[in-house]
Amino acid sequence: MDAVEAARLALDDASADIAADLCEDWRFWARPSQWPPEGAWRVWLLLAGRGFGKTRCGAEFVRARVAAGHAKRVALVAPTAADARDVMVEGESGLLNISPDDARPLYEPSKRRLSWANGAVATLFSADEPDRLRGPQFDLAWCDELAAWRYDEAWTNLMLGLRLGDDPRAVVTTTPKPRRLLRELIADPNVAVTRGTTYENANNLAPAFLDAIVKRYEGTRIGRQELDAELLEDAEGALWTRSMIEAARVVAAPSLKRIVVAIDPAVSSGDGADETGIVAAGLGHDGFAYVLADRSGRMRPHEWASRAIEIYRVLGADRIVAEKNQGGDLVEATLRVVDPSVSYKGVHATHGKLVRAEPIAALYEQGRVRHVGAYPALEDQMCAWTGEGGSPDRLDALVWAISELMLAPQGAAIIDYYRHLAG
Ligand SMILES: Nc1ncnc2c1ncn2[C@@H]1O[C@H](COP(=O)(O)OP(=O)(O)OP(=O)(O)O)[C@@H](O)[C@H]1O
Ligand SMILES: [Mg+2]
Repeated sequence: MDAVEAARLALDDASADIAADLCEDWRFWARPSQWPPEGAWRVWLLLAGRGFGKTRCGAEFVRARVAAGHAKRVALVAPTAADARDVMVEGESGLLNISPDDARPLYEPSKRRLSWANGAVATLFSADEPDRLRGPQFDLAWCDELAAWRYDEAWTNLMLGLRLGDDPRAVVTTTPKPRRLLRELIADPNVAVTRGTTYENANNLAPAFLDAIVKRYEGTRIGRQELDAELLEDAEGALWTRSMIEAARVVAAPSLKRIVVAIDPAVSSGDGADETGIVAAGLGHDGFAYVLADRSGRMRPHEWASRAIEIYRVLGADRIVAEKNQGGDLVEATLRVVDPSVSYKGVHATHGKLVRAEPIAALYEQGRVRHVGAYPALEDQMCAWTGEGGSPDRLDALVWAISELMLAPQGAAIIDYYRHLAG
C-alpha cells in the first residue's frame, strides 16, 4: 500500500466533516516538492516535467495567498489568452476547479476577470500581448509555462507592475526550455528554484496520458527536458545553437516584401502520428528573413489545411509551399478544398534533409534570419537536430520557408555548393 492509499483509508475512518476538509486542503495533498519554498524570495520558479502538477501548484498558491488576504490584485499570465482561460481558470487544475464551493471566485470571461468574495481580483493576460501588461499593478502574479511565452517583454512588463503591497510575489510554473529568460531567472538571487519530474505525479495522472508522454520522450534527449525538467545545453553537432537563436530574436518585423507559409505534412494522422509543420516567414526590404509564426501540431489533413490557410490570410502571405515528394499533389488538393484560390507551389526535394538545412543554418550564423518573438517548440527541434534520426517537422517547414525566401532561385547553386563541401 502506498502513502496516498493509506491516507485515503484513514480518511474513510475520519468523520465526514474532517474528511471533507482534508480533501480540500492542499497542504494535505501536496508533495513536499510542490510546496512553496521557505525564504523571502520574490519569484518562485517551479521547473518540472509534463504532468508534474505545475499548474495545480500555481493555482493553489494563488488560492492560498488570496484566502490569507495577502493578494488583492493578481495577474494570471499564460502563453495565449486561450491557455489562460482553458488551463489557469477552467482547466482541471485551474482556479475554479480547485476552489471549494464556498470559496470559488466569480469568473467573468468577457472581462477576463476572477473576483473573490473578500475583494481580491485576478486579471487574465496573454504573453502574446505584452503591451497589456504595461501599466497595471499587482501584488501577486502567476505565470504558467513561461518557457513557452512568445515575448520576453511580457515578463519584463509584468515585473515592473509587480509592486503593490509590502510583499509582492510571483510564482512561475513551467517545463523548462533553455532560453535566456529562464537562465537569467535561475541565476537571480531573488528567485527560489524548485524542480520535479513527471514520474513524481504518476499516481495522479491518467494512465493513458502518462503512457503516451513517457513513450514519446523516454530515453531521448528532449525527454530529459520534458520529463525530468533538465535545462538542456546545446546538443553536440546540432546545426543551430541557442545563442544563435537568441541573437536572432527581435520584437517586431519591419515591412516585408514577401511572405510564405510552408507546410511539412504528417504522413499519417492520429495519436501516434507525426506533427504537421506549418511555419510562416517573410522577407524584409532589409534583405533579412523574419520567422513570423509556427502553427505546427498534430492534425488531420483538413485541420492543417485550414490552419495554414488561416495564417496565410492573416499575414497576407503570397504563397503556400510544400514538399511535392510525399503526396505533394494531395497537399495541393487538400488546400484547395478549403480555398480553391490559394496560391500554392510544390517544391521538389532533390537533396537530403541535411543538405537542405545546412545553408539555412549558415544564414542564421550570418545573422540573416530573425525570429519575431520566440518559437520554443521549433527552436527545440533546431537545437537538437544533428542531421540524423527522426524527422523534425517544424524544422522542415522552417527550412522550406526560408529556402523559398532566401535561396530560390539561386538555391540550387547554394545547395550544390554545400553538397560539394560535404564531399
Ligand atoms: N499532490 C497531488 N495530489 C493529487 N493530485 C495532484 C497532485 N499534484 C497534481 N495533481 C493532479 O495531477 C493532475 C496534473 O496536474 P497539472 O495539470 O497541474 O500538471 P502540469 O504539470 O501542469 O501538467 P502539464 O505539463 O500537462 O501542464 C491534475 O489532475 C492535478 O490536480
Ligand atoms: Mg500545466
